[in-house]
Amino acid sequence: MQNIFLNGEYLPINQARISVFDRGFTFGDGVYEVFLVYHRKIFRLQEHLERLNNSLSAIYMDNPYSDSQWQELLIKLVMDSPADNQSLYLQITRGVSERDHAIDIAEKPTVFAMSKPLPEHDFSSGIKAIVADDIRWQLCYIKATTLLASVILRHQASLAGAKEAILVKDDSVTEGAASNVFIVIDGVVKTPPKDGRILPGITRDLVVELLNESGVVCQESNITRDELYVAEEIWVTSSTWEIVPVVMLDDTRVGDGRPGQYWERARDIYRQFKEAQRQS
Ligand code: PDD
Repeated sequence: MQNIFLNGEYLPINQARISVFDRGFTFGDGVYEVFLVYHRKIFRLQEHLERLNNSLSAIYMDNPYSDSQWQELLIKLVMDSPADNQSLYLQITRGVSERDHAIDIAEKPTVFAMSKPLPEHDFSSGIKAIVADDIRWQLCYIKATTLLASVILRHQASLAGAKEAILVKDDSVTEGAASNVFIVIDGVVKTPPKDGRILPGITRDLVVELLNESGVVCQESNITRDELYVAEEIWVTSSTWEIVPVVMLDDTRVGDGRPGQYWERARDIYRQFKEAQRQS
């Protein structure tokens, strides 16, 4: 059985124990990261660790480990895994305390990490998404484990036969329930700005960078609900899904109902970048 990491130890998953008073359990008081591991290399490790630091400081927690300690710990899990391509998860909670909102009563943080084989999926022919009100809180730049709104939104998507919910707040598109959003409109690629209402996605940032480098203009600017409905293309991005074309929005086809040419271009340059990383 593959080991997980819990509070300094590598253990088989069935031997791992945490307290019912862990604040991750009672309050959802914690943060997390999900990394893509490609051919046993952790993709964009430094960027994820930076975001982890930002999430921790936003919730008034110190990082229990340095970047090099994280790297060592995560690489051990990656090397122990049977799969070359993995999804690597880490979670830090504020630890154990009596059930009281005060944060200074918490003991040491709980640190958990695990790796699992990357789930097989082929979304290359496109997915359906629904449009939903962004019912989440105002601090969406924190990658918080408190994910009830996203869980409800993803469930509403699945009830409609869709894979993702694209969220709208004050008439502007924010992001997906667990992804960032891009559209193509009048031949221009657009994605919402990092204004605190979205998670600064690692995949999003890389796609923006790679598109701009390759000469495809990508604007980080507001997208209205109306623009979403007339977009020629819509994509959602995340570490484990990468770049997925949305071909049905509610019950309307996006463009001609097939993945578009800009998506193909983005997918190709993203693949090339990944391949170059693997060989570096
Ligand atoms: N979620 N926005 C939200 C709300 C997310 O939950 C995620 C990822 C993203 C994409 O971020 P990144 O490109 O860094 O993976 C954007 C992960 C995969 C999850 O919760 O499982």
